[in-house]
Amino acid sequence: MTSIGVLASGRGSNFKALLDAQKRGDFGGEFVVLVSDKPDAGALSIARENGVKAVVISPKDFTSREAHEEAVVKELEGCGVGLVCLAGYMRIVGTPLLARFGGRILNIHPALLPSFPGLHGQRQALEHGAKVTGATVHFVDEGCDTGPIIIQAPVPIGEDDTEDTLSARILAEEHRIYPAAVRLFCEGRLKIAGRRVKILPLGPKKGEDK
Ligand code: GRF
Repeated sequence: MTSIGVLASGRGSNFKALLDAQKRGDFGGEFVVLVSDKPDAGALSIARENGVKAVVISPKDFTSREAHEEAVVKELEGCGVGLVCLAGYMRIVGTPLLARFGGRILNIHPALLPSFPGLHGQRQALEHGAKVTGATVHFVDEGCDTGPIIIQAPVPIGEDDTEDTLSARILAEEHRIYPAAVRLFCEGRLKIAGRRVKILPLGPKKGEDK
């Protein structure tokens, strides 16, 4: 069973989708801590309502980005976390997290990467005039939304779409593919080979023939 820590800054709908997947069972992972940099993040309430440790680590209490991230790492390590899920975490991941959790940090992005990285992926796609956008789950590296891609889901853009209508359809896909990717990680089925992530077949369960 993989112990999972979540970092979130906002409402936490992806975190909720992950928790729901864990509750459905056979997930291979357990959410043990939610860390937020924002004391008013909705994700904190979701954690508390679901019996997950909720911790606020505000950058305002530290003199540098490094020191703040070190404190986040300390909390995650103290909880025995083996996988870190970013779920609307509005900070660039730096050296402390990458040094200790490299290859074990996932993120969800509201666009088909490498198109439209960074903030407001949905708005960027609309303004660019793209006909298709979507959602991406990827490993986190030192860049901004540049790490190896695990799962993507396409979402067509309609003539009448606004940022809100498009975001809602993308979000539905996020809630589907993020739990799927986390489950694959927990099953030990993700193999990073350079830029590519290979999805390995499911091995035999305990008690089954090899
Ligand atoms: C999502 O659109 C996610 O793709 C992006 O931030 C948003 C977080 O939403 N990284 P929520 O807090 O999970 O509802």
